[in-house]
Amino acid sequence: MTANSTLLRELPADLDRERLPRHVAVIMDGNGRWAKRQGLPRIMGHRRGVDTLKDMLRCCKDWGIKALTAYAFSTENWGRPLEEVDFLMTLFERVLRQELREMMAEDVRIRFVGNLSALPPSLRAEIERSMIETQHNQGIEFSVATNYGGRQEIVQACRAIATQVQQGLIQPEDIDESLFEQHLYTRGVCDPDLLIRTSGEMRISNFLLWQMAYAEIYITDTMWPDFDRAEFHRALCAYQQRDRRFGRVK
Ligand code: IPE
Ligand code: IPE
Ligand code: MG
Repeated sequence: MTANSTLLRELPADLDRERLPRHVAVIMDGNGRWAKRQGLPRIMGHRRGVDTLKDMLRCCKDWGIKALTAYAFSTENWGRPLEEVDFLMTLFERVLRQELREMMAEDVRIRFVGNLSALPPSLRAEIERSMIETQHNQGIEFSVATNYGGRQEIVQACRAIATQVQQGLIQPEDIDESLFEQHLYTRGVCDPDLLIRTSGEMRISNFLLWQMAYAEIYITDTMWPDFDRAEFHRALCAYQQRDRRFGRVK
């Protein structure tokens, strides 16, 4: 944590508590480049990225943001070298095991969104355990997108709905946006108001395609391991300057 981070324990005075995003989504990008710049292997960037995420979650709680979703592993990330994929799966499992007690103490409800069936069984077991144990916590909704792909999510929802139609449980006319959302991994969580992507990349890389329809997008050149409370403060200031019109006129 930088000096700046420790100073920002409370919501900065220039932010309007009433107009905070209810839900912040982050594409935690740039771990590999951060490590390379330090002359370290890519995996060291992922390790540091975990510390950033832990502080982001704590910061959201400190500042009164009710939901955080972090993109941890995309359906496309399987295409990375096997050693990196293996490292990430092991890292997720270890961090989850280590942090469960802390999440209970901090009243965090954790969920995982994505196709969890393809994850290693030992990781799946930790995921199940953490979701069940924290299910009644209400301090903050923390979603981790793991083996997540927005297109894959939409296709699996279509399949589930088509099956219900085929079984005669619903009619095609019953399909509307709200029914559709019931079949997404994110059901029950409001859409993100703010999307933050680190490392300067200007794309959404298959993240929350449906849910992002009206999210405000904030991109910073900072690499994820260097993202801190001061950076988050800047993102929230930018968010509060935005005029969210939702297609209307004033
Ligand atoms: C994001 O950092 C973390 C994951 C995708 C798991 P990257 O690993 O994509 O880092 P860069 O973009 O290569 O620097
Ligand atoms: C997006 O980052 C996925 C995660 C942060 C988990 P990537 O690094 O995989 O995205 P691209 O390849 O730059 O689009
Ligand atoms: Mg990347």
